[in-house]
Amino acid sequence: MFFERLTKLFRRPPEYITVAVAQAQRVSQPAQALPPSRLPRHVAIIMDGNGRWAQARGMSRSAGHAAGTEALRDIIRASDDWGIEALSLYAFSTENWARSKEEVGALMALLLKYFSSEIDELDEKNVRITILGDVDGLPEAQREAVISAMERTRDNTGLKLNIALNYGGRAELTRAARLLAEQVREGALDPEDIDEDLFAQQLYTADSPDVDLLIRTSGEQRLSNFLPWQTTYAEFVFDTVNWPDFDRARYMKCLQVYADRDRRFGGVKSDGEAKP
Ligand code: FPP
Repeated sequence: MFFERLTKLFRRPPEYITVAVAQAQRVSQPAQALPPSRLPRHVAIIMDGNGRWAQARGMSRSAGHAAGTEALRDIIRASDDWGIEALSLYAFSTENWARSKEEVGALMALLLKYFSSEIDELDEKNVRITILGDVDGLPEAQREAVISAMERTRDNTGLKLNIALNYGGRAELTRAARLLAEQVREGALDPEDIDEDLFAQQLYTADSPDVDLLIRTSGEQRLSNFLPWQTTYAEFVFDTVNWPDFDRARYMKCLQVYADRDRRFGGVKSDGEAKP
């Protein structure tokens, strides 16, 4: 136990992230490297296209989500391997309840299966799990599983794994405003003291930095109510593959696109010249 804790504490991201793409993709491509200073601290992913992936193969939408869960496992591992600080995944939105009973049931079953099969490895890897969204609106078994995962990993100091479940961005902002209003009503907060930092602390992502890179698969180019506050200055990278086909080689390509971007946050380039 003591040595396990010690290993977790002293785990450090490698100085250079080297990915043997050839090995990952089983095709001949050179190994690629990114210095940690060019890595995003917080990556958010909209895992889109499970249904289309399944349809193209004559399979059920639920089978597409099962394949999507396999992709998700490896992307979480890659994020951990590469020393990404926070990874936020859009797994189930407040709008997704409108899907067929069968599909919602399949997604909920996958969720339960995922948490029971992965929690030991995630905890052992020092991953901290946070659920973004209203857990009270989940079925009882799923609610218990995710609350137990959050409690078990609360003191972990490695990858911050944020899983959005029953999540809606506008609902999150409305909730933050309500939490602040309650503090004002109780006399614990002066409205004058409400600033951006205090507002951000009321969000589900209070422990994570702002999103640096947002990836969406399947060729769609929308935010779909995902982390509207946190992505204000994020770089967006859209990949055309459906989520089940997204692997660590494609993930690394997205990180490379991000590394080549010139982020100015509304200012000018450090040499004083803005790009045309
Ligand atoms: C979007 O594809 C994907 C979803 C709504 C669900 C994403 C969920 C998973 C990848 C797996 C479950 C998560 C966990 C944490 C176990 P879509 O169905 O909208 O695809 P389409 O646009 O092609 O129809």
